[in-house]
Amino acid sequence: MKRKKIVAGNWKMNLSWVEAFDLATSIKEKSEGVAGIQKIIFPPLPYLQMLSVIVEDEADFFVGAQNCSEHEKGAYTGEVSAEMIESAGASFVLVGHSERRMYFSETNEQLIQKINQALKSDLKIIFCFGEHLNERNNNLHFETVKQQLVEVLKHYPKEKTNELLIAYEPVWAIGTGETATPAQAQEMHAFVRKTLSEIFSNEIAQTISILYGGSCNAQNAKELFSCEDVDGGLIGGASLKAEDFCIIMNSF
Ligand code: PGA
Repeated sequence: MKRKKIVAGNWKMNLSWVEAFDLATSIKEKSEGVAGIQKIIFPPLPYLQMLSVIVEDEADFFVGAQNCSEHEKGAYTGEVSAEMIESAGASFVLVGHSERRMYFSETNEQLIQKINQALKSDLKIIFCFGEHLNERNNNLHFETVKQQLVEVLKHYPKEKTNELLIAYEPVWAIGTGETATPAQAQEMHAFVRKTLSEIFSNEIAQTISILYGGSCNAQNAKELFSCEDVDGGLIGGASLKAEDFCIIMNSF
């Protein structure tokens, strides 16, 4: 099975309602005729429903949430459940983004619960992981990444791996303008695929798309995507400009 090629845009806590509408509409227009590349946008939660309507007739264009609650429902003020996200028309959810791990102290235990909630509501996951700079400098990056993957994904049901996407996001390259070199990205992605084959099976590992995230942009996407085990990108800053996002989409 050929792996899906994917360009995902993590808009984080940016854009007004009108800006979000314009950006999604513009991406939709510009991506007409771009075949075989799956596009996923992750806007702030209040825009999910509006943007789901924009993409509903598109074959390869989806909307996802940047987070979901680990709880099913109840007295959790301010939280949004996977079921609510799905009912707003979204198809994906990010789990394990470094900003959630860092600023909201999300633990592996919570990530496992979030994945369970998402799968119960038929949402697909992009599971994010990656090492901090001090871990790379101390040569602990492989160990760190392996631990993040194994501790969470060993609970992920094998029969749903055809829907699983994962994103390697070296924390030192997120929002910093620093990018992993194509050689660093390929080295880690190959290691990740080997780890996936240990968690699931070699056959399954070959089918899971591994995205690169961390200052991927219109200038470096082509080189990064030319690496054998890089199947696309999870883009932050550069996903806020339709033009750049579309250049990235055309970089395979
Ligand atoms: P960046 O963010 O592209 O702005 O570095 C990537 C991400 O956090 O997903």
